[in-house]
Amino acid sequence: MNLKGRSFLTLKDFTPDEILYLIDLAADLKEKKKQGVTGKSLEGKNIALIFEKPSTRTRCAFTVACIDEGAHPEYLGKNDIQLGYKESVEDTARVLGRMFDGIEFRGFLHKNVELLAKHSGVPVWNGLTDDYHPTQILADMLTIKEQFGVLKGLNLVFIGDGRNNVANSIMVGCGKLGVNCTIIAPDSLWPEAELVATCQGYAKEAGSKIMITDQIDAVEGADVIYTDVWVSMGEEEKAAERLSLLKDYQVNAVLMKKTGKEKAIALHCLPAVKGNEITEEVFETHANVIFDEAENRMHTIKAVMVATLGK
Ligand code: CP
Ligand code: NVA
Repeated sequence: MNLKGRSFLTLKDFTPDEILYLIDLAADLKEKKKQGVTGKSLEGKNIALIFEKPSTRTRCAFTVACIDEGAHPEYLGKNDIQLGYKESVEDTARVLGRMFDGIEFRGFLHKNVELLAKHSGVPVWNGLTDDYHPTQILADMLTIKEQFGVLKGLNLVFIGDGRNNVANSIMVGCGKLGVNCTIIAPDSLWPEAELVATCQGYAKEAGSKIMITDQIDAVEGADVIYTDVWVSMGEEEKAAERLSLLKDYQVNAVLMKKTGKEKAIALHCLPAVKGNEITEEVFETHANVIFDEAENRMHTIKAVMVATLGK
């Protein structure tokens, strides 16, 4: 599999085989790291880490993955550069592309990560935009595979803000990998119809189904219950509205029971607001797998950088 020179902006740009390759590579790198073996695949590379929004996992994952593989990471926070307001994204992209070998971008506009990729001439990796969070989904899929041994044919339910970056990306990932995906959300928080149709197209090819509903009972038969914050970064003024829209869509013990599956797991991309989208009780019951998921951000992000930039 040759992914050299490719950017990683959304999973839509990758074939099922390419996505599975990244997940398997991550599992391999994880196994090696547990044995104390890290590579030199990124030796001599300089990596820019642009963060317009805050981050714990994504920032730390990119930083540690770079250092494990011999690269130098450079953090560029929102007050460090003047991306899009004093200097155009295109010009910043051209400057960074002359100095860095790869660029991570976390920010607001998805358009900006596309512009960076178009104008920098180096691989650009999406560390979360308003619309997509693709590296998160690689970690989720690795975690699910670790738990169940397979991906195809499993039933995943995403419940909560069904039109946020994580919901959009999990729908793409499930469609590509043949995981049945149900988004449960009030209809004002459903994902865009065009994206749903695109994902249903992927799912049809992979032999799975994508469904959108406002009915909580649709959790029945779920192997994986996945949730995320009700108020994403940058939407803070919507907090009161979201709480009232989503109060019945909490992941709690009753909802987990409704899956009818004793072995169902709960996932959360984190950070979590316990008492909102997930109860402390369910969170703690599934804490091991949730923190595996967090750890897997590092192994999967490492896999993306190694595959697209490594020697
Ligand atoms: N899940 C995730 O992306 O976490 P951070 O916002 O801490 O990077
Ligand atoms: N939907 C959340 C994800 C955080 C990792 C946000 O954008 O804030």
